[in-house]
Amino acid sequence: MNIPKKIKNICCIGAGYVGGPTMAVIAQKCPEIKVTVVDINEQRIAAWNDKILDNLPIYEPGLSEVVKEARGRNLFFSTDVDKAIVEAEMVFISVNTPTKTYGVGKGMAADLKYVELCARQIAKVSTSDKIVVEKSTLPVRTAQSIKTILDAEGKDIQFKVLSNPEFLAEGTAIEDLHHADRVLIGGDQDVDGLKAIQCLVEIYAHWLTKERILTTNVWSSELSKLTANAFLAQRVSSINAISALCEHTGANVDEIANAIGADSRIGSKFLKASVGFGGSCFQKDILNLVYIARSYGLEEVADYWNQVIILNDYQKRRFAETVVNTLFNTISGKKIAVLGWAFKKDTNDTRESAAIYVADYLLNEQAELMVYDPKVKPEQIYADLDYLNTRSEEENRRLLTVVTNPYEAMDDAHAVTILTEWDEFKNYDWKKVYRGMKKPAFVFDGRNVLENELLKSIGFLTFNLGRS
Ligand code: UDX
Ligand code: ADP
Repeated sequence: MNIPKKIKNICCIGAGYVGGPTMAVIAQKCPEIKVTVVDINEQRIAAWNDKILDNLPIYEPGLSEVVKEARGRNLFFSTDVDKAIVEAEMVFISVNTPTKTYGVGKGMAADLKYVELCARQIAKVSTSDKIVVEKSTLPVRTAQSIKTILDAEGKDIQFKVLSNPEFLAEGTAIEDLHHADRVLIGGDQDVDGLKAIQCLVEIYAHWLTKERILTTNVWSSELSKLTANAFLAQRVSSINAISALCEHTGANVDEIANAIGADSRIGSKFLKASVGFGGSCFQKDILNLVYIARSYGLEEVADYWNQVIILNDYQKRRFAETVVNTLFNTISGKKIAVLGWAFKKDTNDTRESAAIYVADYLLNEQAELMVYDPKVKPEQIYADLDYLNTRSEEENRRLLTVVTNPYEAMDDAHAVTILTEWDEFKNYDWKKVYRGMKKPAFVFDGRNVLENELLKSIGFLTFNLGRS
């Protein structure tokens, strides 16, 4: 197989939350490599090419500076997928792998149809040997399926498939890419496989030390990604389980997190109790892990990981139930402010956000919701709710209003709920908010971000997760 000593042309299929920022940073750090990010979504590509950097399709701190530096120099966004594939020596697949909504594995397995379409397209249009890199999170052994599809075209060209899962977290994507704890590259351990791995190592070595670039076989790399997300999600569910216990015992979950986090074996990160984890990865990847375990007959393993999801659903429901119970068991017609819709701060991504499920629960009780999020657009909020199909689109719009001013959301409200930990929430004029609200004025802090003592001194009745 013809593997160049140095890669000069990269293409990435999929300009989403992973493909976009990752390729922008590769282009920034490797000015001699031409990086073309392609997507079938014309609107998304137009947004990536927008002269006004505020209009990029993804909000990530630091992203616009990186795009400004590299775009037009060696970073390009295009809808011409075929051309970019033909010209590239290395093709990244970074398309969506949602949970299947049909057929075998419905609601559990990863839907690989987009990945498969990419592989078919690469096989069809390629005219030279290529290294194909899985960037999307995929079930273990997907590389084999991709390889089979690539080879099935029967052309006189060769492909090597690498697994290079992305560990960036949204909201800190650029920081995570610039200072990655580690980069993982899995590939075949034969001569060409090792050469292909080395090509990708060289790219990351532009800005990361070699100790941070781990190489493994393909299967370890694929399974490491699922395992990393499962472990992180498990920590959140573990502390959330303890938060429920705290509310009954007088213990304080933040104090517990501090106390156990000081143990270097446990570590202090990912111990923040919350209204529930969201995001495009945790639930999807655990469901996928559970599905894979079951498919090998490992029922106990599957049940173990599935419990992380059960606990997360419980936490969202528990929070919503607390709001209803505290507001005298009736919230019909009551105005409730929802602060935060994104699944965490510093992103406009709402996939699997706890806010969607909490809002849906409160709307079932006929509450009138006033939603404010600093970065999420109103059409996204309505789309998230409509997608659940719980009630008609008209009713969603009648019961839920999206506002651009947080004070308007809270004015005349019976209660305020904090569902995302945006920093700006801490700095509001809470005395002014209190004056404008109905009394008794309740605050339900689903992220434990507000100063509870201050709120109480103003006159609010407060509920914090994991405090009695
Ligand atoms: C995650 C992984 O962190 C990342 O490595 C992987 O590549 C993709 O999935 P992301 O989903 O962007 O990243 O966000 P993350 O910071 O992991 O948070 C996920 C969810 O857990 C959020 O809803 C967050 O609010 C919640 N969370 C996180 C908590 O509730 N408590 C915590 O202590 C940490
Ligand atoms: P992630 O968070 O993993 O980046 P996203 O859903 O944000 O996932 O992005 C995936 C992107 O991949 C979408 O913009 C989608 O349009 C794009 N995509 C899916 N299939 C193809 C394809 N066959 N060719 C080009 N782009 C694709």
